Amino acid sequence: MHLIRPSLPRRLILATPALLVRPALAEAPRTPAQMEGPYYPRMIPADADADLVRVAGQPREARGQPLRFEGTVRGRDGGALPGVTVRIWQADAGGIYLHPNDPRVAQRDAAFQGYGRTVTDAAGRYAFRTIRPGPYPGRTPHIHLRAASADGRLELTTQAYFPDAPQNANDMLLRGLPADRRALVTMRLTATDAGQSGTLDLVLG
Ligand SMILES: [Fe+2]
Repeated sequence: MHLIRPSLPRRLILATPALLVRPALAEAPRTPAQMEGPYYPRMIPADADADLVRVAGQPREARGQPLRFEGTVRGRDGGALPGVTVRIWQADAGGIYLHPNDPRVAQRDAAFQGYGRTVTDAAGRYAFRTIRPGPYPGRTPHIHLRAASADGRLELTTQAYFPDAPQNANDMLLRGLPADRRALVTMRLTATDAGQSGTLDLVLG
């Protein structure tokens, strides 16, 4: 049986493997890093799973606009990265963090988890069930995020933004990035039956 079709010119057949192993001409741009900020939880909550809307032991779900926050984690060569731990932390619907230094912490929504973590699947995907964070003074709404490979060699701390937030225009941290890099930390928003889906693909490297 002929594995190679005889009509294919021999020269092309020989050239093909070389083309396949050539390094990519343009590596994907890294997702820009952003500061951790003052509100990374001091105590990780007992319930720290990927569903921030339902906290173990709470009789109701969190207040706020439902958001599925998701994306794919890739290396600079475009390959999906499985096994990456993704952690998020964010304000509740009232703009309050799960942190003793938040001046309004006493009024926070106890049914909102405030922090969650997951691990990317075989296709490099992560997903959280959360809410859109409420605004707090001086910032545009954002979700803090940290992604780290199991061997610790790849790590990124950044913040994810909403394309439709009017406060983006005045946010010092977001405006501090050039426009093309701002796009790399801004979610793609779509409407779903359950609320909204915000997608942010990450490139580590
Ligand atoms: Fe923040």
